[in-house]
Amino acid sequence: MSKRAASFICQNCGAAYGRWQGKCEACGEWNTLAEEEAVAPLRARGPGKAPGKGRLFALEPLSGETHDAPRLPSGIAEFDRVTGGGLVRGSVLLVGGDPGIGKSTLLIQVAAALARAGRRAVYISGEEATAQVRLRAERLSLGDAPVELASETAIEDILATLAAGELPSLIVIDSIQTMWTDTVESAPGTVTQVRASAQALIRFAKKTGACIILVGHVTKDGQIAGPRVVEHMVDAVLSFEGEGSHQFRILRAVKNRFGPTDEIGVFEMTGLGLREVMNPSELFLSERDLGSPGTAVFAGIEGTRPLLVEIQALVAPSTLGTPRRAVVGWDQNRLSMVIAVLDAHCGVRLSGHDVYLNVAGGLRIQEPAADMAAAAALVSSLANAPLPADAVYFGEVSLSGAIRPVSQCAARLKEAAKLGFAKAFIPEAGRPEGLSDGQPAVAAIGTLAALVADIAARGSARAPRLVKDDES
Ligand code: TYD
Ligand code: MG
Repeated sequence: MSKRAASFICQNCGAAYGRWQGKCEACGEWNTLAEEEAVAPLRARGPGKAPGKGRLFALEPLSGETHDAPRLPSGIAEFDRVTGGGLVRGSVLLVGGDPGIGKSTLLIQVAAALARAGRRAVYISGEEATAQVRLRAERLSLGDAPVELASETAIEDILATLAAGELPSLIVIDSIQTMWTDTVESAPGTVTQVRASAQALIRFAKKTGACIILVGHVTKDGQIAGPRVVEHMVDAVLSFEGEGSHQFRILRAVKNRFGPTDEIGVFEMTGLGLREVMNPSELFLSERDLGSPGTAVFAGIEGTRPLLVEIQALVAPSTLGTPRRAVVGWDQNRLSMVIAVLDAHCGVRLSGHDVYLNVAGGLRIQEPAADMAAAAALVSSLANAPLPADAVYFGEVSLSGAIRPVSQCAARLKEAAKLGFAKAFIPEAGRPEGLSDGQPAVAAIGTLAALVADIAARGSARAPRLVKDDES
């Protein structure tokens, strides 16, 4: 390449174009293209390599000896659960989350826990001065932990420093967007810079066996800002979530090459940093409003752990032409589906009503098993009939109006029993064999219409008509 051509790189997905255009055709985003200096490939700049000639390397058989990935547990159980049992040597993790959610707090706590266990932990902040990090650590009573701090952004300097001393077990880079490497000429924070910096760090981790945690900022639509490309390069992507107004924080594995991706870790943000929540069901149900219509307790499973959470619904007559459907913590499309099934198969008409659905505590539910609890909450609100306070609900609603079985029925029932629930509405088809004595009384529900009838019978004293007769 004789002359360096400028190219236009989408700051959202990393697609490259020869000229500027308003819309990125790869990801469909508008106004995300920025001009960046194109860089000659690394290989072409390497010393003494004739173009087209590669180095020979040995191929290995698949059946070779494998060592179980050596893990480095942090001792923070909720964090270790999400990583799949601890940090894997030589792996690179990306922790994403909204600004202010507590990423820096979590990672200084992890670094301190490892340092206290006698590992070398290095925390490099590109955003805060060392004094600020130290101040925060002191407030979290971690001031005595032998974490090594630096406030640096130049990747070459960081890697040279890390390679010079004893190899750290953990290196935290807060955040990848502030890092820059002089192998590329783009400004810090651009996709090219972030990608090159991440690549250099990943190479270092793979070569030395140190574990690196990168902090990544998240854009308003939930993508790890700019470099979605980084997500493909790292071994694990953890997302740190929570509602601003709640103190609960959920750490969720979005991708994990060394562990499951459906585990969550639950933390509570306190004045003394993040506290692990070992028993999340208790926490999520602690602020329950007993005896009011429109709330149902859902017995869910997050990863390997059962989790009870309250689903709240409000159904109110609408004055709008197109009634509102607002959901927090659940999938909008699933809500539409449940509303459609209630309409088509159960005679419950919500077309003239605004519907609000909220998962208590700021949790985000992805399981289809929540369908039945959501439907129960909706119907309960519409009929102004409180559901029994000691009942849990779970089951998937199919488009035909049937309640379909869900996995891990026994674990859900056991958790419900543990928290004092006496009754469980579960799918008829997935009814587990041989329920033990301690478990809640099971009401097996075959169709959504049967559930609606049950709730309507409960509310008939208070609201005379739930199912409106068809206008005729
Ligand atoms: P921080 O870790 O700086 O967030 P991030 O790195 O994700 O941007 O967390 C900042 C927020 O956490 C801030 O709003 C205050 C709150 N916080 C507490 O409530 N208690 C604490 O002990 C700490 C350190 C922070
Ligand atoms: Mg931070």
